[in-house]
Amino acid sequence: MSGASSSDTVVATLLERLRAMERSDAAASMLPRECYTLPAFFDYERDAVFAHCWHCVGRAEQIPEAGDYLAARVAEEPLLIVRGTDGEIRALSAVCRHRGEVIACESGHARSLRCPLHFWTYDLEGRLIAAPRMGQQTDLEHLKKVTRLPVVRCELWHGFIFVTLDDQAAPVAAGLSKVEPFWENYEAADLVGVPPVPSDQILPWNWKLHFENFTDAYHPEFVHRGTHDFAPSNHPSGGVSFFPMAPGDEAIIRTVPLLKADGGMTSEGWGDPAAFPPIATLSGAQRERLAFVMIPPGMTIIFAPNAIAYQLITPLSALSTTAANDRISGGGWLLPRTTLSLPDFSARAASVRTGGSKIWAQDLPVNLGMQAGKQSRFSPDGIYGPLETTLVQFNAWLLRKYLQTPADSAPTKSARPACASA
Ligand code: FES
Ligand SMILES: [Fe+2]
Repeated sequence: MSGASSSDTVVATLLERLRAMERSDAAASMLPRECYTLPAFFDYERDAVFAHCWHCVGRAEQIPEAGDYLAARVAEEPLLIVRGTDGEIRALSAVCRHRGEVIACESGHARSLRCPLHFWTYDLEGRLIAAPRMGQQTDLEHLKKVTRLPVVRCELWHGFIFVTLDDQAAPVAAGLSKVEPFWENYEAADLVGVPPVPSDQILPWNWKLHFENFTDAYHPEFVHRGTHDFAPSNHPSGGVSFFPMAPGDEAIIRTVPLLKADGGMTSEGWGDPAAFPPIATLSGAQRERLAFVMIPPGMTIIFAPNAIAYQLITPLSALSTTAANDRISGGGWLLPRTTLSLPDFSARAASVRTGGSKIWAQDLPVNLGMQAGKQSRFSPDGIYGPLETTLVQFNAWLLRKYLQTPADSAPTKSARPACASA
């Protein structure tokens, strides 16, 4: 008991410091290091941030047929994203209404959703349709009438399925309106999704560090020598561009130029000629740049001249994160159908994975080092340079999320994983 209350006190003290940062417009300083290390603060984030955000859980074309479903976890809630017989996609709680077993932890296909424990069975819209032996003591017809898996909000955005646990959240498209111009001309190319391959690898750092590494325009020149020089943040004819944040924005964006139009991912990192051919429908400007879009807390997107590449990120704990694709496992691409049907597509995809792996191999040690730095008593308050605008924007986004939480939204006890690996 005393442990729980001291956790609450630590979080309350941290929130007070964050409030002071917001008052002094100090998003330009790093957040307190404890925001990256404390389990109690992660629990707070789960309830105050993750439970109120939109989370991408996959693409509509991954569940084309009635009965196809994706298993997902959002703010530690097990969910099933199901294509119904009416063609609609719904997000349902995966927690059985009998005694709370999780119905499925893997994606799949079924005519109905059957709990593995006592075989209570639900239709594809979550209504109870069978409960073996329950009719002996209970009015089964009434039980069926009143029992349904809770439905969670679910919206599509450019074919991506987003869910949120917050009924009051603004529509997903409203928060991502800033990204719209970057979609122009891509969908005219008849894009097909190649889902990201989930990785088993636990990334031993806080989820915020993962995003900071993605969005940091300062480090490629030093960390990514040989793999990122083709997409420089500094360039005589203009380097990185940043985009202002408006209230309600849920995306943070930067672009960098390419040294040559139509370049892209090669087996050596960003370069030319790219492994995937250029997308013919794009404008001249789009063929000369990369646009890096982060949609915290769970998604990044890169708009390149040859592909859209996305990664889905799951914060697991204060010190662990997973990603699909993790830049080694591959996938997470939207590609023109013509690219996918190239006879040597597999070899090209392998090149992209190789190039991504080389960049990732450079990021790994610095991410580990940054997490270790957060654990240090000598961790600095920090100062941001001219190439780190997106980090300041991320801090401002985080402060907004942390501090908009109602005062009574106290952190709750961490939920146990539904499908803990053996
Ligand atoms: S817990 Fe699901 S059927 Fe019993
Ligand atoms: Fe990097």
